[in-house]
Amino acid sequence: MLHPVKEATEFLQKKIKHKPEVGVILGTGLGNLFVEEIKNPITITYNVIPHFPVTTVTSHKGQLIFGEVKKKQVMVMRGRFHYYEGYSMQQIALPIRVMKLLGVKNLLISNAAGNLNLSWHKGELMMLDDHINLQPDNPLRGENSELFGPRFPDMSEPYAQKLNKKLQKIARENKINLHKGVYAAVQGPSMETRAEYRYLRMLGADAVGMSTVPEVLVANHMGIACCAVSVLTNDCDPDHLNRVELQTIVDTASASEKKLVTLFTGLIGQL
Ligand code: HPA
Repeated sequence: MLHPVKEATEFLQKKIKHKPEVGVILGTGLGNLFVEEIKNPITITYNVIPHFPVTTVTSHKGQLIFGEVKKKQVMVMRGRFHYYEGYSMQQIALPIRVMKLLGVKNLLISNAAGNLNLSWHKGELMMLDDHINLQPDNPLRGENSELFGPRFPDMSEPYAQKLNKKLQKIARENKINLHKGVYAAVQGPSMETRAEYRYLRMLGADAVGMSTVPEVLVANHMGIACCAVSVLTNDCDPDHLNRVELQTIVDTASASEKKLVTLFTGLIGQL
């Protein structure tokens, strides 16, 4: 695992002038407005980076963008990798490990998620306070490299309180309704049945999605502070469930993108 991470890192080091301090992952429907905020961008498509997987989902662009936001050096993944695409957890982990070797200290993650909390509504945002990993694998399974982190990384605070407090303050100042809750990560790619949504609600999840948790596990393993925000794209009321299409999820995420950009740029300015 070390060798591909090093090769990808060395390739990227030759392309950039400044070390990135902040990593950003832009999820489904969230890859446009934030990108406009990046000054002096250097864009590299995933398919030219050694060992990088390529996105197979059309709603994800597949670009790594280095540049400046609020005078901070950022490294932005415009599109991410999901387990349901067939990648191994090691492949999903690779870009995050590369971020660490390049110098990233804080990671800001976004995603589109189903809303399981019946007092909330689609289009609103949820900051992750915690997660439940229901995916069938863990990127840290297998031989542990102490260079990356410990064998049994602590998960008592997967989403850094110091970042979450700042996000809440920025939300208040900008009149953004930012919920706080628990995200359940499922394998997908099929959406959940009514019975599965009921089960996830019983488990204590407020939102459900097919991403984020692998990246958060890897980042925590390496001591990168994380925060994550879900755009709630569809209401998952088991007793009144509507059909949901990808386009609706993408459109609902895009409609909330401006709020997400306000939160993320505000936070980057304070790091
Ligand atoms: N389930 C799983 N993943 C999702 C959903 C959902 O309802 N909405 C957006 N991503």
